[in-house]
Amino acid sequence: MPNPLEQLRDDALREIEAAPDEQALEVARVKYLGKSGSISAWGEQMKTLPKEEKPVVGKLLNEVRTAATAAIESRAQQLRSQKESEAVANIDISLPATGYSGFSGYSGRSSELTPYSGYSGYLPLERGSLHPLTQMLDRAIAIFRRMGFALADGPDIETEWHCFDALNTPPEHPARNEQDTFYLPDGRLLRTHTSTVQIRTMESAPPPIRVIAPGAAYRRDEVDATHSAQFHQIEGLYVDENVSVADLKGTLEFFMRELFGTDTAVRFRPHYFPFTEPSFEIDVQSKALKGGEQWIEVAGSGMVHPGVFGEVNKARGDDAYDPEKWTGFAFGLGMDRLAMILFDIPDIRLFAQNDLRFLRQFA
Ligand code: PHE
Repeated sequence: MPNPLEQLRDDALREIEAAPDEQALEVARVKYLGKSGSISAWGEQMKTLPKEEKPVVGKLLNEVRTAATAAIESRAQQLRSQKESEAVANIDISLPATGYSGFSGYSGRSSELTPYSGYSGYLPLERGSLHPLTQMLDRAIAIFRRMGFALADGPDIETEWHCFDALNTPPEHPARNEQDTFYLPDGRLLRTHTSTVQIRTMESAPPPIRVIAPGAAYRRDEVDATHSAQFHQIEGLYVDENVSVADLKGTLEFFMRELFGTDTAVRFRPHYFPFTEPSFEIDVQSKALKGGEQWIEVAGSGMVHPGVFGEVNKARGDDAYDPEKWTGFAFGLGMDRLAMILFDIPDIRLFAQNDLRFLRQFA
Protein backbone atom coordinates (compact mmCIF):
# COMPACT_ATOMS: atom_id res chain seq x y z
CA MET A 1 0.00 0.00 0.00
CA PRO A 2 1.48 3.46 -0.91
CA ASN A 3 2.42 5.71 1.94
CA PRO A 4 -0.58 8.05 2.43
CA LEU A 5 1.69 11.10 2.42
CA GLU A 6 3.17 10.14 -0.93
CA GLN A 7 -0.35 9.60 -2.21
CA LEU A 8 -1.25 13.09 -0.98
CA ARG A 9 1.80 14.60 -2.74
CA ASP A 10 0.99 12.89 -6.05
CA ASP A 11 -2.64 14.02 -5.92
CA ALA A 12 -1.63 17.60 -5.10
CA LEU A 13 0.96 17.82 -7.89
CA ARG A 14 -1.38 16.33 -10.46
CA GLU A 15 -4.13 18.78 -9.59
CA ILE A 16 -1.82 21.80 -9.51
CA GLU A 17 -0.20 21.01 -12.85
CA ALA A 18 -3.58 20.49 -14.47
CA ALA A 19 -5.09 23.74 -13.14
CA PRO A 20 -6.53 25.38 -16.31
CA ASP A 21 -6.47 28.95 -15.00
CA GLU A 22 -5.52 31.14 -12.04
CA GLN A 23 -8.80 30.55 -10.17
CA ALA A 24 -8.45 26.77 -10.38
CA LEU A 25 -4.88 27.07 -9.17
CA GLU A 26 -6.00 29.14 -6.19
CA VAL A 27 -8.64 26.49 -5.36
CA ALA A 28 -5.93 23.80 -5.41
CA ARG A 29 -3.64 25.92 -3.24
CA VAL A 30 -6.33 26.36 -0.58
CA LYS A 31 -7.22 22.71 -0.75
CA TYR A 32 -3.69 21.52 0.01
CA LEU A 33 -1.77 24.38 1.59
CA GLY A 34 -4.53 26.55 3.07
CA LYS A 35 -5.03 26.82 6.83
CA SER A 36 -7.43 23.87 6.87
CA GLY A 37 -5.97 22.20 3.78
CA SER A 38 -4.91 18.55 3.77
CA ILE A 39 -1.19 19.21 4.21
CA SER A 40 -1.88 21.47 7.18
CA ALA A 41 -4.23 18.85 8.57
CA TRP A 42 -1.39 16.37 8.51
CA GLY A 43 0.63 18.77 10.59
CA GLU A 44 -2.09 18.71 13.21
CA GLN A 45 -2.19 14.91 13.14
CA MET A 46 1.55 14.78 13.75
CA LYS A 47 0.90 15.72 17.38
CA THR A 48 -0.95 12.43 17.98
CA LEU A 49 1.82 10.25 16.55
CA PRO A 50 4.10 8.16 18.74
CA LYS A 51 7.35 9.96 19.48
CA GLU A 52 9.63 7.72 17.43
CA GLU A 53 7.56 8.17 14.23
CA LYS A 54 7.48 11.95 14.42
CA PRO A 55 10.89 12.73 12.77
CA VAL A 56 10.28 10.42 9.79
CA VAL A 57 6.76 11.64 9.14
CA GLY A 58 7.75 15.24 9.82
CA LYS A 59 10.52 15.08 7.20
CA LEU A 60 8.23 13.55 4.61
CA LEU A 61 5.54 16.12 5.33
CA ASN A 62 8.03 18.95 4.82
CA GLU A 63 9.04 17.51 1.46
CA VAL A 64 5.42 17.30 0.39
CA ARG A 65 4.83 20.92 1.40
CA THR A 66 7.92 22.12 -0.46
CA ALA A 67 7.02 20.18 -3.60
CA ALA A 68 3.46 21.53 -3.61
CA THR A 69 4.60 25.13 -3.04
CA ALA A 70 7.13 24.90 -5.90
CA ALA A 71 4.55 23.36 -8.22
CA ILE A 72 2.09 26.18 -7.54
CA GLU A 73 4.79 28.76 -8.19
CA SER A 74 5.77 27.27 -11.53
CA ARG A 75 2.19 26.71 -12.71
CA ALA A 76 1.37 30.34 -11.83
CA GLN A 77 4.34 31.45 -13.91
CA GLN A 78 3.20 29.31 -16.84
CA LEU A 79 -0.31 30.73 -16.69
CA ARG A 80 1.04 34.30 -16.57
CA SER A 81 3.22 34.00 -19.65
CA GLN A 82 0.45 32.19 -21.49
CA LYS A 83 -1.83 35.12 -20.73
CA GLU A 84 0.82 37.61 -21.91
CA SER A 85 1.41 35.93 -25.24
CA GLU A 86 -2.33 35.67 -25.81
CA ALA A 87 -2.62 39.40 -25.12
CA VAL A 88 -0.12 40.35 -27.87
CA ALA A 89 -1.05 37.60 -30.31
CA ASN A 90 -3.35 39.84 -32.34
CA ILE A 91 -1.18 42.95 -32.44
CA ASP A 92 0.03 43.85 -35.92
CA ILE A 93 3.64 44.89 -35.32
CA SER A 94 3.99 46.11 -38.89
CA LEU A 95 1.68 49.08 -38.23
CA PRO A 96 3.45 52.45 -37.80
CA ALA A 97 3.79 53.64 -34.20
CA THR A 98 0.88 55.69 -32.88
CA GLY A 99 1.38 59.39 -33.26
CA TYR A 100 3.99 59.28 -35.98
CA SER A 101 1.93 58.85 -39.10
CA GLY A 102 0.01 61.98 -39.93
CA PHE A 103 2.09 64.12 -37.59
CA SER A 104 2.73 66.83 -40.13
CA GLY A 105 5.38 69.46 -39.66
CA TYR A 106 7.57 67.44 -37.35
CA SER A 107 11.03 68.91 -37.68
CA GLY A 108 12.97 66.84 -35.24
CA ARG A 109 13.22 69.50 -32.57
CA SER A 110 12.41 68.41 -29.05
CA SER A 111 10.29 71.46 -28.36
CA GLU A 112 7.91 70.17 -31.01
CA LEU A 113 7.75 66.67 -29.61
CA THR A 114 4.65 67.42 -27.59
CA PRO A 115 1.64 65.19 -28.23
CA TYR A 116 -1.07 66.81 -30.34
CA SER A 117 -4.62 66.82 -29.13
CA GLY A 118 -6.70 63.69 -29.39
CA TYR A 119 -3.77 61.43 -29.30
CA SER A 120 -3.12 58.98 -26.59
CA GLY A 121 0.21 59.78 -25.07
CA TYR A 122 2.82 58.17 -27.32
CA LEU A 123 5.63 60.42 -28.46
CA PRO A 124 6.43 60.44 -32.17
CA LEU A 125 9.49 58.40 -33.08
CA GLU A 126 12.53 60.65 -33.08
CA ARG A 127 14.45 60.66 -36.31
CA GLY A 128 18.21 60.22 -36.01
CA SER A 129 20.68 61.93 -38.31
CA LEU A 130 24.32 61.69 -39.31
CA HIS A 131 26.94 63.58 -37.28
CA PRO A 132 28.23 66.67 -39.13
CA LEU A 133 31.72 65.15 -39.32
CA THR A 134 30.25 62.04 -40.94
CA GLN A 135 28.33 64.21 -43.40
CA MET A 136 31.55 66.08 -44.17
CA LEU A 137 33.41 62.79 -44.63
CA ASP A 138 30.74 61.39 -46.97
CA ARG A 139 30.99 64.47 -49.18
CA ALA A 140 34.78 64.32 -49.26
CA ILE A 141 34.85 60.62 -50.10
CA ALA A 142 32.33 61.12 -52.90
CA ILE A 143 34.50 63.82 -54.49
CA PHE A 144 37.73 61.81 -54.29
CA ARG A 145 36.00 58.67 -55.58
CA ARG A 146 35.09 60.53 -58.75
CA MET A 147 38.82 61.15 -59.25
CA GLY A 148 39.54 57.44 -58.80
CA PHE A 149 40.83 57.39 -55.22
CA ALA A 150 40.26 54.20 -53.21
CA LEU A 151 39.88 54.03 -49.43
CA ALA A 152 42.77 52.93 -47.21
CA ASP A 153 42.95 52.42 -43.47
CA GLY A 154 45.40 52.03 -40.61
CA PRO A 155 45.39 51.72 -36.80
CA ASP A 156 45.05 54.66 -34.40
CA ILE A 157 47.65 53.06 -32.10
CA GLU A 158 50.85 53.09 -34.11
CA THR A 159 54.52 52.25 -33.97
CA GLU A 160 56.97 55.13 -33.76
CA TRP A 161 58.45 53.87 -36.99
CA HIS A 162 55.22 54.27 -38.97
CA CYS A 163 54.48 57.65 -37.43
CA PHE A 164 57.95 59.18 -37.67
CA ASP A 165 61.02 57.22 -38.83
CA ALA A 166 59.48 55.92 -42.04
CA LEU A 167 58.22 59.43 -42.72
CA ASN A 168 61.76 60.80 -42.70
CA THR A 169 61.22 62.41 -39.28
CA PRO A 170 64.42 62.23 -37.21
CA PRO A 171 64.46 61.36 -33.47
CA GLU A 172 65.17 64.97 -32.48
CA HIS A 173 62.15 66.34 -34.35
CA PRO A 174 59.82 68.29 -32.02
CA ALA A 175 56.73 66.29 -33.14
CA ARG A 176 58.23 63.27 -31.33
CA ASN A 177 58.45 65.12 -28.04
CA GLU A 178 56.63 63.54 -25.11
CA GLN A 179 54.96 66.90 -24.57
CA ASP A 180 53.35 66.71 -28.00
CA THR A 181 52.40 63.05 -28.36
CA PHE A 182 50.57 60.37 -26.37
CA TYR A 183 52.95 57.44 -25.81
CA LEU A 184 51.86 54.03 -24.52
CA PRO A 185 54.00 52.14 -21.98
CA ASP A 186 55.09 49.67 -24.70
CA GLY A 187 56.56 52.49 -26.81
CA ARG A 188 53.71 52.68 -29.32
CA LEU A 189 51.75 55.93 -29.62
CA LEU A 190 48.48 57.45 -30.73
CA ARG A 191 49.20 58.55 -34.29
CA THR A 192 49.77 62.28 -34.55
CA HIS A 193 48.66 62.28 -38.18
CA THR A 194 47.11 59.94 -40.74
CA SER A 195 50.34 60.01 -42.80
CA THR A 196 51.06 56.64 -41.16
CA VAL A 197 48.62 55.16 -43.68
CA GLN A 198 50.85 56.33 -46.55
CA ILE A 199 53.51 53.98 -45.21
CA ARG A 200 51.16 51.08 -44.49
CA THR A 201 49.65 51.33 -47.97
CA MET A 202 53.04 51.32 -49.71
CA GLU A 203 54.27 48.45 -47.53
CA SER A 204 51.39 46.29 -48.65
CA ALA A 205 51.06 47.20 -52.32
CA PRO A 206 53.39 48.21 -55.17
CA PRO A 207 52.80 51.40 -57.20
CA PRO A 208 50.74 52.89 -58.74
CA ILE A 209 48.82 54.04 -55.64
CA ARG A 210 45.80 56.32 -55.45
CA VAL A 211 44.22 56.29 -51.99
CA ILE A 212 42.59 58.46 -49.38
CA ALA A 213 42.64 57.47 -45.70
CA PRO A 214 40.23 59.27 -43.37
CA GLY A 215 40.67 58.82 -39.65
CA ALA A 216 41.40 60.21 -36.20
CA ALA A 217 44.70 61.75 -35.13
CA TYR A 218 45.89 62.74 -31.66
CA ARG A 219 48.05 65.47 -30.22
CA ARG A 220 48.76 66.75 -26.74
CA ASP A 221 47.33 70.13 -27.66
CA GLU A 222 45.92 72.67 -25.28
CA VAL A 223 42.16 72.26 -25.92
CA ASP A 224 40.40 75.41 -27.15
CA ALA A 225 37.90 76.48 -29.82
CA THR A 226 40.19 75.35 -32.64
CA HIS A 227 42.28 72.60 -30.98
CA SER A 228 41.25 69.22 -29.69
CA ALA A 229 43.39 66.31 -28.43
CA GLN A 230 41.59 64.14 -30.95
CA PHE A 231 40.80 65.45 -34.39
CA HIS A 232 40.28 64.04 -37.88
CA GLN A 233 42.21 64.08 -41.11
CA ILE A 234 41.84 62.79 -44.62
CA GLU A 235 45.19 61.59 -45.89
CA GLY A 236 45.78 61.34 -49.61
CA LEU A 237 48.56 59.52 -51.51
CA TYR A 238 49.11 59.37 -55.25
CA VAL A 239 52.14 57.52 -56.60
CA ASP A 240 52.71 56.91 -60.29
CA GLU A 241 55.14 57.74 -63.08
CA ASN A 242 55.53 61.45 -63.86
CA VAL A 243 53.35 62.80 -61.06
CA SER A 244 54.02 66.50 -60.60
CA VAL A 245 53.08 69.47 -58.41
CA ALA A 246 50.56 70.36 -61.15
CA ASP A 247 48.70 67.12 -60.38
CA LEU A 248 48.70 67.92 -56.67
CA LYS A 249 47.37 71.42 -57.32
CA GLY A 250 44.76 70.27 -59.81
CA THR A 251 43.48 67.55 -57.49
CA LEU A 252 43.13 69.73 -54.43
CA GLU A 253 41.76 72.76 -56.29
CA PHE A 254 39.08 70.53 -57.80
CA PHE A 255 38.31 69.10 -54.37
CA MET A 256 37.98 72.51 -52.68
CA ARG A 257 35.75 73.90 -55.44
CA GLU A 258 33.49 70.88 -55.37
CA LEU A 259 33.20 71.22 -51.60
CA PHE A 260 32.96 74.98 -51.14
CA GLY A 261 31.72 76.18 -54.53
CA THR A 262 33.28 77.28 -57.83
CA ASP A 263 34.15 80.77 -56.57
CA THR A 264 36.63 79.30 -54.06
CA ALA A 265 40.23 80.47 -54.35
CA VAL A 266 42.96 78.01 -53.34
CA ARG A 267 46.44 79.10 -52.28
CA PHE A 268 49.55 76.90 -52.00
CA ARG A 269 51.91 78.42 -49.48
CA PRO A 270 55.49 77.01 -49.24
CA HIS A 271 56.01 75.12 -46.01
CA TYR A 272 58.13 72.35 -44.51
CA PHE A 273 57.25 68.72 -43.78
CA PRO A 274 60.01 66.11 -43.34
CA PHE A 275 58.22 63.62 -45.59
CA THR A 276 57.48 65.85 -48.60
CA GLU A 277 59.66 68.07 -50.78
CA PRO A 278 58.60 70.60 -51.85
CA SER A 279 55.89 71.08 -49.23
CA PHE A 280 52.89 73.40 -49.11
CA GLU A 281 50.19 74.49 -46.77
CA ILE A 282 46.88 74.99 -48.51
CA ASP A 283 44.56 77.91 -47.76
CA VAL A 284 41.09 78.54 -49.12
CA GLN A 285 39.12 81.74 -49.54
CA SER A 286 35.51 81.93 -50.62
CA LYS A 287 33.01 84.74 -50.74
CA ALA A 288 30.31 82.19 -50.09
CA LEU A 289 31.90 81.34 -46.75
CA LYS A 290 31.69 83.30 -43.58
CA GLY A 291 34.87 85.25 -43.15
CA GLY A 292 34.68 86.34 -46.81
CA GLU A 293 38.10 87.76 -47.62
CA GLN A 294 39.93 85.66 -45.07
CA TRP A 295 42.35 82.86 -46.08
CA ILE A 296 41.78 79.74 -44.02
CA GLU A 297 44.39 76.99 -43.73
CA VAL A 298 42.90 73.57 -44.42
CA ALA A 299 45.67 71.14 -45.38
CA GLY A 300 49.33 70.20 -45.55
CA SER A 301 50.71 68.68 -48.73
CA GLY A 302 53.72 68.08 -50.93
CA MET A 303 55.64 65.74 -53.21
CA VAL A 304 56.61 62.46 -51.53
CA HIS A 305 60.21 62.70 -50.29
CA PRO A 306 62.57 60.15 -51.94
CA GLY A 307 63.73 59.23 -48.42
CA VAL A 308 60.21 57.94 -47.66
CA PHE A 309 60.34 55.67 -50.72
CA GLY A 310 63.75 54.48 -49.49
CA GLU A 311 62.37 53.54 -46.04
CA VAL A 312 59.41 51.73 -47.61
CA ASN A 313 61.74 49.75 -49.91
CA LYS A 314 63.84 48.72 -46.90
CA ALA A 315 60.72 47.52 -45.05
CA ARG A 316 59.42 45.69 -48.12
CA GLY A 317 62.79 44.17 -48.91
CA ASP A 318 62.53 45.10 -52.59
CA ASP A 319 62.91 48.08 -54.88
CA ALA A 320 59.22 48.51 -55.78
CA TYR A 321 59.30 52.23 -54.98
CA ASP A 322 62.35 53.14 -57.02
CA PRO A 323 62.61 56.94 -56.54
CA GLU A 324 64.16 57.22 -60.01
CA LYS A 325 61.03 55.76 -61.55
CA TRP A 326 58.13 56.80 -59.33
CA THR A 327 57.00 60.14 -58.01
CA GLY A 328 54.00 61.03 -55.91
CA PHE A 329 52.11 63.62 -53.97
CA ALA A 330 50.54 63.41 -50.54
CA PHE A 331 48.20 65.62 -48.57
CA GLY A 332 46.53 65.75 -45.17
CA LEU A 333 43.22 67.58 -44.96
CA GLY A 334 41.98 68.82 -41.58
CA MET A 335 38.53 67.34 -41.55
CA ASP A 336 37.21 69.13 -38.47
CA ARG A 337 38.44 72.40 -39.96
CA LEU A 338 36.71 71.71 -43.28
CA ALA A 339 33.45 70.85 -41.50
CA MET A 340 33.70 74.00 -39.37
CA ILE A 341 34.07 76.14 -42.49
CA LEU A 342 31.40 74.30 -44.47
CA PHE A 343 28.76 74.36 -41.73
CA ASP A 344 29.90 77.60 -40.07
CA ILE A 345 30.67 75.94 -36.72
CA PRO A 346 32.52 78.25 -34.32
CA ASP A 347 34.03 75.72 -31.88
CA ILE A 348 35.68 72.33 -32.52
CA ARG A 349 34.61 71.07 -29.09
CA LEU A 350 30.99 70.99 -30.27
CA PHE A 351 31.78 67.91 -32.37
CA ALA A 352 32.41 65.78 -29.30
CA GLN A 353 30.01 67.19 -26.71
CA ASN A 354 27.01 65.20 -27.87
CA ASP A 355 24.71 68.18 -27.36
CA LEU A 356 21.44 67.43 -29.19
CA ARG A 357 20.70 71.13 -29.64
CA PHE A 358 23.86 71.28 -31.77
CA LEU A 359 23.47 67.95 -33.54
CA ARG A 360 19.82 68.49 -34.52
CA GLN A 361 20.82 71.46 -36.65
CA PHE A 362 22.37 69.00 -39.10
CA ALA A 363 19.39 66.67 -39.28
N1 PHE B 1 50.73 64.96 -41.83
C1 PHE B 1 50.78 66.38 -41.96
C2 PHE B 1 50.15 67.02 -40.70
O1 PHE B 1 49.44 66.35 -40.00
C3 PHE B 1 50.03 66.85 -43.17
C4 PHE B 1 50.64 66.36 -44.44
C5 PHE B 1 50.17 65.18 -45.02
C6 PHE B 1 51.63 67.08 -45.06
C7 PHE B 1 50.74 64.75 -46.21
C8 PHE B 1 52.19 66.64 -46.23
C9 PHE B 1 51.73 65.48 -46.80
O2 PHE B 1 50.38 68.18 -40.41
